[in-house]
Amino acid sequence: MDFIDLKTQYRRLKPSVDERIARVLEHGQYVMGPEVGELEQKLAEYVGARHCIGVASGTDALLIALMALDIGPGDEVITVPFTFFATAEMIALIGAKPVFVDIDRGSYNMDPDKLEAAMTPHTRAIMPVSLYGQCPDLDAIDAIARAHDVPVIEDAAQSFGATYKGKRSGGLTAIGATSFFPSKPLGCYGDGGALFTNDDDLARVMREIRVHGQDRRYHHPRLGLTGRLDSIQAAVLLAKLETFDEEVAARRRLGERYAELIRIKFGTGPQALVHAPEVESYNTCVFAQYTVEVEHREIVETRMKQLGVPTAVHYPLSLHMQPVFKDLGYKEGDFPNSEAAARRVISLPMHPYLSDAQQIEVVDALAQAVA
Ligand SMILES: Cc1ncc(COP(=O)(O)O)c(C=O)c1O
Repeated sequence: MDFIDLKTQYRRLKPSVDERIARVLEHGQYVMGPEVGELEQKLAEYVGARHCIGVASGTDALLIALMALDIGPGDEVITVPFTFFATAEMIALIGAKPVFVDIDRGSYNMDPDKLEAAMTPHTRAIMPVSLYGQCPDLDAIDAIARAHDVPVIEDAAQSFGATYKGKRSGGLTAIGATSFFPSKPLGCYGDGGALFTNDDDLARVMREIRVHGQDRRYHHPRLGLTGRLDSIQAAVLLAKLETFDEEVAARRRLGERYAELIRIKFGTGPQALVHAPEVESYNTCVFAQYTVEVEHREIVETRMKQLGVPTAVHYPLSLHMQPVFKDLGYKEGDFPNSEAAARRVISLPMHPYLSDAQQIEVVDALAQAVA
């Protein structure tokens, strides 16, 4: 069994992926070819945002968003400590200070009730993460952001295809940033990402930063990057978009079925040996990861491996405890929800082509592993 099976998807989409890639090889515009523009238009429509800017990775998307808002040394950006490293890494890389707000224990996302206390006169942006494929309570976060007149950047790397109150992740905030890393809900065959905004000025600036800060050839009003999405990746994404809605539906169905199987096998409440994730009533979730909680995780990981079921841990160390962030002055105990999650979470195989029999095999293995 694969943790994420990309080969089955490729076999299904092969004619269209191969044809799209072959077209790029023929026309030869390998960077910023017509596929990039076509993809940007389709993704903007899908998300419901005025602009989409294809970029080289989810990490570059976060970096470009922060650069476009002119954030730098002396500034603070609020995020969560329970996320992939890149979220806080990009804040620190541009010289700003990551300020952490603990997560809600049920959704693993930023707890808006803890946000106000973290705001200071130096706060320049709030960067919540839509972890595991569902959005945080963005209206509650937005209300605080508006009161302080700072923008919200959604790190939507794991939530492309998800909805919050009926609207698509990525298009809900001043800037949305997503990733097309192969294992993501919409993944390419290398690195890729995208930015979304309704703001014409921000869109123009982000397009400039994507290509060395140039507004026309060899004319640079600002600094930037080589941050472009390449044409072959755009071609792969265009082919994958054809079946994306079906895959999102499959992810939701599989997520619900996992929850049902876990409820039947382990029960619910604090005594249950395995806790299934909760999807908030206002959300749909794309389950970029299907992540449960267990006691004695290391033992469970080893036993699952012995039983032939791959697992992964997203993420084993809360970011305030990462060695590189020791100068931020945080200590163990500062973010109890994030720390507890980091000790207990374990992700199970999840992809749209997981069969019913495989799901039963995973949950049966889990029952043996936690016994
Ligand atoms: C929450 C989060 N933010 C940012 C990123 C960075 O995306 P990429 O790997 O495309 O640079 C990831 C990807 O793993 C992620 O999960």
